[in-house]
Amino acid sequence: MEIGTGKSYAKIILIGEHAVVYGEPAIALPVKSIGLSARVAPLPDGRQEVTSAFFNGDLNAGQLTNFAGIAMLIRRLLVFFDATDQGFHLTITSALPSERGMGSSAATAVAVVRAFYDAFQTALTRTALLNWADISEKALHGNPSGLDAATASAEKPQWFVRGKSLRSIMMPRNGVLLIADTGIAGQTKIAVDLVARKLKQEPKVYRPLITDIGTAVRQAALALAQDDIITLGQLLNRDQTDLAALGVSSPELDRLINVALDHGAYGAKLTGSGMGGCMIALAAEDQAATIIQALKAANAVKVWEYHFETK
Ligand code: MEV
Repeated sequence: MEIGTGKSYAKIILIGEHAVVYGEPAIALPVKSIGLSARVAPLPDGRQEVTSAFFNGDLNAGQLTNFAGIAMLIRRLLVFFDATDQGFHLTITSALPSERGMGSSAATAVAVVRAFYDAFQTALTRTALLNWADISEKALHGNPSGLDAATASAEKPQWFVRGKSLRSIMMPRNGVLLIADTGIAGQTKIAVDLVARKLKQEPKVYRPLITDIGTAVRQAALALAQDDIITLGQLLNRDQTDLAALGVSSPELDRLINVALDHGAYGAKLTGSGMGGCMIALAAEDQAATIIQALKAANAVKVWEYHFETK
């Protein structure tokens, strides 16, 4: 084993969360300004240690809690590399807030897998990377679509259909996305399980919402291709209406969404699994400062500005 490093990014789902679990398409963006990196270095004495925001200490002795999925992933990587007795120190440095819908668990998995493959000097395909990330995502979320890891490992915005399609998609030439954190933790497993329960109990009520989200995502792809951010904004609003009807919005998300719309955003919605976490607003560049100020005044704990990359 050598020293190995790996990186990944925060992800923002532009449109299509939740429905993507059931085979509808989604569009998501890697946020390169909010990154995560992993560095693994061999230790001579067999200790397997981690330094991170989620867990610190000996992987085989500590209370792992929400690091258990990543620990399982690491153990399987060590079996794969025939190195179960290998000592190492893994350091994870992250600018991503956790449990805010920005994909921190998937980003951690992606960077960790990349770091171990680098340490064992082995080439890693995208498919293998996403299969590895699925191990910890399944442990944490139960039924992940794979969208989070696909986006956390991408360099460009992604069009994603579970198990079928993953490709880059062009963003509009103008407009800006504002990302605001409600400061409330939202757990993906709870939200995904809630939607699953509702679909099972009342399919006639909830299935059409999933289908409508899929339709809105396809129309959003067309709006993107036509550089039509006004239509895109309307589709984000329609998506938010569907997500709220599925029960995954929250009063804090609704409040920030309404503030953004009241201050001129073209559209606004929750992003990620919801029930807390972050919202996004699509706005004209010259409207951004006003909306940011209003979101902060409405108690957003943090607001990020995301400028579309058009190449
Ligand atoms: C979570 O970031 C996105 C969800 O659609 C779940 C998933 O795709 O696995 C809610």
